[in-house]
Amino acid sequence: MIEVKGLWHIYEGGKEALRGIDFDMGNEIVALVGPNGSGKTTLAKHLNGLLKPTKGEVIVDGLNTKEHSVAELSRIVGYVFQNPEHMFFAESVFGEVAFGPRNLGLSGEEVEERVRWALEKVNLEGYENRTPYSLSGGEKQRLAIACVLSMKPKYLVLDEPTTGLDEKSAESVRDIIRSLHREGHGILLITHEMDLVLELARRVVLLHGGKKIFDGPVDEFFSLELRDYGLDRPELLRISFSIGTGFVRTVEEFVGRLAR
Ligand SMILES: Nc1ncnc2c1ncn2[C@@H]1O[C@H](COP(=O)(O)OP(=O)(O)OP(=O)(O)O)[C@@H](O)[C@H]1O
Ligand SMILES: [Mg+2]
Repeated sequence: MIEVKGLWHIYEGGKEALRGIDFDMGNEIVALVGPNGSGKTTLAKHLNGLLKPTKGEVIVDGLNTKEHSVAELSRIVGYVFQNPEHMFFAESVFGEVAFGPRNLGLSGEEVEERVRWALEKVNLEGYENRTPYSLSGGEKQRLAIACVLSMKPKYLVLDEPTTGLDEKSAESVRDIIRSLHREGHGILLITHEMDLVLELARRVVLLHGGKKIFDGPVDEFFSLELRDYGLDRPELLRISFSIGTGFVRTVEEFVGRLAR
């Protein structure tokens, strides 16, 4: 369980990026949405201790982030950065994924096993000797996910994991998210893509100006006046709402309603 209680984050210089956030999550998929600058990434960075509360607290499976290091917390909460290519430093894909497990002090054999498992999860088998910079955007995104998975964290925070990907790469990231969720991981999915929210999340948290404006089921979220927050409904829902068939998750469900 991740518990965020009365969290404030004020950056040096005085920007109040988070203003009193309360938020809990377990092993579910939660979409975290909101306009640019609303505080999503700031909140995400609190969950593995990269940032520490100015006020309030964050408790991760019983550990207060103020009292534990990022290295310790990263075993529990994996964070995939918004622009993952900036985090690569190794000369090979293998070295990149092996870095975390090596730091855990695992044996060479266990490290290799973790790397193999993580690369297989994201469909990057055979890429071990490539340099991370030679990968395509979608492959880099999957590599970043593999690096975090190799630590076997219980929770994953994915900061705009499908932004800029073509449909095939985005679909493979969606498959990874669904499969991790089935295996019992809790996933915080930060995104501007409302189709993705509709497809994957049962629960949505909306931030605006560093405050939590909404936290509830996805169907209620999509009945909000989203334009006020610089967001819009997916086309499927716009059509379904405008002809009166209400909330639907998929085209199949929509067609089913029409047939009734
Ligand atoms: N290191 C920093 N120093 C000062 N202000 C910062 C810093 N990082 C972020 N901010 C400010 O804090 C606010 C929240 O930023 P944050 O990156 O959390 O927003 P976001 O919701 O992730 O936005 P986006 O959708 O653009 O990724 C913004 O006003 C931003 O300019
Ligand atoms: Mg962000």
